[in-house]
Amino acid sequence: MKSLFNQNILCIGAGYVGGPTMAMIAHKCPQYRVTIVDINPERIAQWKSDRLPIFEPGLDEIVRAVHGRNLFFSTDIEKGIREADIIFVSVNTPTKTFGVGAGMAADLQYWEKTARQILESATTDKIVVEKSTLPVRTAQAMERILFSTHSGVRFEVLSNPEFLAEGTAIQDLENPDRVLIGSRQTESGLKAGSALAEIYANWVPRDRILTTDIWSSELSKLVANAFLAQRISSINAISVLCEKTEADVTQVARAVGMDNRIGPKFLNASVGFGGSCFKKDILNLVYICQYYGLNDVAKYWNSVIKINEYQKAHFVETMLNAMFNTLSGKRICLFGFAFKADTGDTRDSPAIQIAKRLIEERAELVITDPQALANARTDLKGVDGNVQFIEDPYEAAAGSHAIAIMTEWRQFRELDYERIYRSMTQPAFIFDGRNVVDHRKLHQMGFNVYPIGKPALTNL
Ligand code: UDX
Ligand code: ADP
Repeated sequence: MKSLFNQNILCIGAGYVGGPTMAMIAHKCPQYRVTIVDINPERIAQWKSDRLPIFEPGLDEIVRAVHGRNLFFSTDIEKGIREADIIFVSVNTPTKTFGVGAGMAADLQYWEKTARQILESATTDKIVVEKSTLPVRTAQAMERILFSTHSGVRFEVLSNPEFLAEGTAIQDLENPDRVLIGSRQTESGLKAGSALAEIYANWVPRDRILTTDIWSSELSKLVANAFLAQRISSINAISVLCEKTEADVTQVARAVGMDNRIGPKFLNASVGFGGSCFKKDILNLVYICQYYGLNDVAKYWNSVIKINEYQKAHFVETMLNAMFNTLSGKRICLFGFAFKADTGDTRDSPAIQIAKRLIEERAELVITDPQALANARTDLKGVDGNVQFIEDPYEAAAGSHAIAIMTEWRQFRELDYERIYRSMTQPAFIFDGRNVVDHRKLHQMGFNVYPIGKPALTNL
């Protein structure tokens, strides 16, 4: 029977990148059949269920509309590869925890396994698209694996980095600043690049679809994240200076950001950046620089991560200093555990490190978060200390000596802080790691308020 669809697209890896990206392609291109496969059967079962494995605003609606129409989930990777014309690879590439490059280089084992599987199962020519963020020149390694036998099947490897941010993935996919496609500059490479561009051209204006060589594309993803993270580390470094000098970091950021050349975005001082990308990608960049003997360049980018570590340590120090140099036996409530609002993702969340430090100080922790409690439980599994996970923020805060805001959830701005204040142990402290609540108002209620990068407002 002739297929109803004019192109079979496969995505290997049903995670934060693969899931939303493929859902958007299926949504915008009903003429393509899109299949997502994963080695984890539980993940696939969740994608097929009413409760998706990831929380992302707007994702449920899109998946519901296209699932079974032209979007399919499966664990049959072999069949998926056999039937596909284009294969997106979005498996995880965490930082290596062992051997050469441990703590820095990307762990490419999942990715290499995928390359080998593509080689084994493919019986017709394929375009293979790197969607996972990978160190520069990984496409070449992928090509080496794919070209390692003479089966007659031809592969063209493309780099197509994903720039979506979690929490705004659907908006970012629907209306991207740019789509970047890197290909070999050969006739067949350029043809494959155009084939991929055709998919995006179904909804992205042509002038936002950029084509480059493969290495520039791979490097651009690392550099974009390094620049974004650098802005946060820069403003965070200034926030500490503001705390000492009684300047206000929000006002400084506003004044600085109004310079057209600088711009207002990504200048929110915080308890530190988190997420699966920034630290990992900068570490990759640093590793590449070191590999090429560019030690000063490596140091420069590494300092972005160092300031981020400093910011988290400084936050706990502020808490300790304010609370009479002891947290032992004190109940401390973390408002938020996700690395940012509108996601349940806690990968590399500053809350993890802060929670662990507070436990070391023998505080009793209570954690509340609208979406991330299951992940928080996993992150703190095996940590020896007194930790509770409570969904209701009022219940979580009751009896606490302090609240520490870790995530900028809108819900936390809208709580009845009079009620919370009355339920807390006095003197009550609030450490606003995201500068999201009304500090003056809370101070007037009786709270001792410690924002980021502004003078503390105390009633002591
Ligand atoms: C990032 C990039 O934005 C995205 O383009 C890339 O594809 C993946 O990495 P993501 O990690 O989802 O996306 O989140 P992002 O919005 O960039 O935030 C990263 C971290 O920085 C969060 O912890 C966030 O809270 C923090 N942040 C962001 C700040 O502390 N201050 C800011 O001004 C902005
Ligand atoms: P990202 O944020 O990059 O999307 P995730 O960890 O959310 O990362 O998703 C990666 C997915 O890739 C996981 O669901 C994992 O099970 C899957 N995966 C890893 N290795 C393979 C493989 N060899 N074949 C298929 N899926 C894989």
